[in-house]
Amino acid sequence: MKPIRKAVFPVAGLGTRFLPATKAIPKEMLPIVDRPLIQYAVDEAREAGIEQMIFVTGRGKSAIEDHFDIAFELEKTMAERGKSLEVLEPTRLGPGNCAYVRQQEPLGLGHAIWCARAIVGDEPFAIFLPDEFMVGSPGCMKQMVEAYNRLGGNLISVLEVPRETVSSYGVIAPGARDGDITEVTGLVEKPKVEDAPSNLIISGRYILQPEVMRTLENQEKGAGEEIQLTDAMARMIGTQPFHAVTFAGKRYDCGSKVGYVQANLAIALARDDMGEEIRAFALDLLAN
Ligand code: G1P
Repeated sequence: MKPIRKAVFPVAGLGTRFLPATKAIPKEMLPIVDRPLIQYAVDEAREAGIEQMIFVTGRGKSAIEDHFDIAFELEKTMAERGKSLEVLEPTRLGPGNCAYVRQQEPLGLGHAIWCARAIVGDEPFAIFLPDEFMVGSPGCMKQMVEAYNRLGGNLISVLEVPRETVSSYGVIAPGARDGDITEVTGLVEKPKVEDAPSNLIISGRYILQPEVMRTLENQEKGAGEEIQLTDAMARMIGTQPFHAVTFAGKRYDCGSKVGYVQANLAIALARDDMGEEIRAFALDLLAN
């Protein structure tokens, strides 16, 4: 079984829900306290043993490339002033550890992934949707890689949501369940509530076999008139093993403003350097 060495981060989206904050900066650069969302996703990939990060970007996304580059003037100045550069350590992705490819038109998530096909090549790979912010130890992808090492095939992370919200997501038809692993017997992108096969949604982490690229090649438009990754995965069920992993941690939907604020509060409260202060402030705020 080939190991998971590469991860694709589709980051070409416009981020209209966060305007005006995202007019001039990518939504993936919005910070949770002091670390951009994309940094958390890359850290989660590294923790899972992934070595090469492939970003599918678009116009206006160069801040992501700068973030993972060396900032020569900044580092030189900090070093001269005797400041520690440790905080920048996770932001360094050398040329062998990252690649950027453009999605030139907003044709959907499936199309974004397909744009990375030449760099992914003929090996299984991970996908991270960075606005799905996963907090836990081990991280979501590490938990999935461990499951992959036992099961092989294709894996997606899932979680339960209130039934009335399923229409915003990809939804699985669940088969047999064994602990945190559920067999996937069907997949549908953004179904009507009454048509949804369950309330288990795809929560933004995938391990897929390279055949998905060939399936995407001739994938027709689906929900929202976009080329959907979910539709391509659905066509692979039956030809390859397909399982869902229920993540044993917390998930924040940072594609929504409420989820984003919740994530900031939760992470701030959990931090050693500010948790106590924030807790006291929040309690005081709520009491008055
Ligand atoms: C995408 C996927 C969907 C998944 C969701 C998770 O949808 O197509 O299957 O459930 O991410 O956030 P989007 O949020 O891009 O509409």
